[in-house]
Amino acid sequence: MAEILREGNIFHLRNDSISYVLCGMPGGVVAQLYFGARLERVNAANLLRHAGVPADGSFDVQESMLDRLPQEYPAFGLGDMRQGAVAVVAPDGSWAVDLRLTGAELPGEKPALAGLPATRGEGSAALRLRLRDAHTGLEAELDYAIYDDCPAVARSARLINGGDAPLTVERAYSLCLDLPDSDWELVTLAGAWARERDICRRPLVRGFQGVSTRHGASSHQTSPFMALVRRNTTEFSGEAVGAALVYSGNFVAAAEVGQFDTTRLLLGVNDDGFSWLLESGEAFQTPEAVLVYSGEGLGGMSRGFHRLWERHLLPARWVGRPRPVLLNSWEAAYFDFDADKLAAIAGAAAEAGAALFVMDDGWFGRRNDDSTSLGDWQCNTGKLPGGLSALGERVRAMGLQFGIWMEPEMISPDSDLYRAHPDWCLHIPGREGITARHQFVLDVGRGDVQEFMYEAVSRTLRESGAAYLKWDMNRNFTNIGSAALPASRQKETAHRYILGLYAVLDRLTRDFPDVLIEGCAGGGGRFDAGMLAYVPQFWCSDDTDALCRLRIQYGTTLVFPPSTMGCHVSAVPNHQTGRTVPLETRFAVALGGSFGYELDPRALTEAERAELRRQVAFADSTQSLRLYGAFYRLLSPFEGDDTAWMSVSADLSEAIFTFVRAQARPNAMPPLVRLRGLDPARRYEVCQTGEVYGGDELMRVGLCCPLAPQGTGDGCSVLYTLKAVNEA
Ligand code: GLA
Repeated sequence: MAEILREGNIFHLRNDSISYVLCGMPGGVVAQLYFGARLERVNAANLLRHAGVPADGSFDVQESMLDRLPQEYPAFGLGDMRQGAVAVVAPDGSWAVDLRLTGAELPGEKPALAGLPATRGEGSAALRLRLRDAHTGLEAELDYAIYDDCPAVARSARLINGGDAPLTVERAYSLCLDLPDSDWELVTLAGAWARERDICRRPLVRGFQGVSTRHGASSHQTSPFMALVRRNTTEFSGEAVGAALVYSGNFVAAAEVGQFDTTRLLLGVNDDGFSWLLESGEAFQTPEAVLVYSGEGLGGMSRGFHRLWERHLLPARWVGRPRPVLLNSWEAAYFDFDADKLAAIAGAAAEAGAALFVMDDGWFGRRNDDSTSLGDWQCNTGKLPGGLSALGERVRAMGLQFGIWMEPEMISPDSDLYRAHPDWCLHIPGREGITARHQFVLDVGRGDVQEFMYEAVSRTLRESGAAYLKWDMNRNFTNIGSAALPASRQKETAHRYILGLYAVLDRLTRDFPDVLIEGCAGGGGRFDAGMLAYVPQFWCSDDTDALCRLRIQYGTTLVFPPSTMGCHVSAVPNHQTGRTVPLETRFAVALGGSFGYELDPRALTEAERAELRRQVAFADSTQSLRLYGAFYRLLSPFEGDDTAWMSVSADLSEAIFTFVRAQARPNAMPPLVRLRGLDPARRYEVCQTGEVYGGDELMRVGLCCPLAPQGTGDGCSVLYTLKAVNEA
């Protein structure tokens, strides 16, 4: 049960597993005292003394260096020499900020955030602190929430200009967490297109370190996430503090180890290329940041995030619900198709038992390659006579749902849309526009552009009767400037874009609640909690090679649950790597997420097509276990050739286990993998072999995984389902 205990100006947020403690100091600076495993009682004197506060509790900003004090929302300029969380330029040109506590409220459940996605508040306890800077009139509302059912705290800040003159916000992070020591290692995610989310772990060093993006999106290159772990923390044990931002644009995630070997974590919208003009009375809302604490290693942290997103963030109507096994036309046909070819591929998908056929890029305008037509969302009736409705009907007549691809945020210079509205893209007048994949980025912060996007998408959904939409976004921002904003507001462009994107997604998901939207950004280039508030699944990567996918999917599960990852079986040799991986291993790996195909089944042998039918049936029957079970990473592809993971049902009666050996190893004993999360007191049958083992045995001894005979090649796998059996 989440609760907020108040003793004077000490606030203790806690639930069954964690505590977060903060304190209004004499004079009003808000100090941060603790985040970690649950505390029964708090005597703040101990923690304050550590921070240099005299034993009598008196605290004087003049003399007691702020540089020592752990703080909730610090700023640079008045004694704290570490990186601040907030910077605001006053009318006199100064930019120091000194926010002091003026009041605190307990609003019951956590309120929603205006204009931004955030975790839902059912089953939470919330705290709002009000602060004010006397010099500028800047006010801040710091919002906190703790949940009954997750080891997590959510935080956000709202800055309000309570003075008479305009203020310019130059930095407004969502989170500052000051921890009393620096004996941590920093975990972040790093990648590139087709190589998303490698896990990076390194010791913290004195000074400033972290990750950030300027791509306009949360990016392929990193993710709005970081974790601190103790040196001895493993996947299964030890402390881990995870922080994630519910945001899809430019961000900073940083850790600063200061002169006293304390650690400050900062997370928020990137202040590089950002500012926000606040007229008198106006407010700026930061995105929400969430903190997860685990005493059970990185695995415990991940399960904390997974549960938080599943229960409080992902669109509620899609959680727990089966996802249709789909076949996507991209790698089957690319731009080269007509209605008959698509219908033939769809027919083969139906034969395999798939539930959804998705037509990818290439159906609109004059789009026969990637050089043209983004923005011209009219069906190319040369390719598809009868239009979207005819193709949709034809596919539905086969017993399949129909799905469609769009890239609504983009505009090709060679498009009717660009010729009509050259001002609608991000651009800097007088500078040459930089194209990428031959396209510009629409200025999604503009109301007229949002209206256009909504109209284009909703018309397409209506015409096609689509039950599924793949919402793509295929390039980084350049030439960041908006024709709709005055010079003083140009640095608002990138954040206004993300607010506009959320507004469109919010409207569409309300108006088309039954359309399953899968996010995509050149694969996993915007795979973040902000997008996942609207789209329950995201195409994990444009790399569909099963062995590459081991790393991509493993890294993604650090923060996001299997249900959110779009994972498909594709053809061999693989189109990205040229590698041939056995079909059963491609299948086992794609089962790690929302499952589908990215190939033309007509090109398979009769035996392979029969195999597909068995695969689809298996994927369907194991959906809830695979997608919504408690997820355990067992062996890491970042540490060796072997990768293994498993999911366990909530009542511990069922589990599914996957093992993959990337490189064949001659003369090796069969692997023995210790399972996790089972009931040690129960016995489990391995359904594929009929053998029965104790849960304790499987977790302490391990499960032996006999691989295919020697000489079979790379990429062997074992896939087992386990069921608890009644004792005879
Ligand atoms: C991006 C996506 C792919 C595919 C293409 C179509 O690269 O990630 O899956 O949809 O666009 O152009």
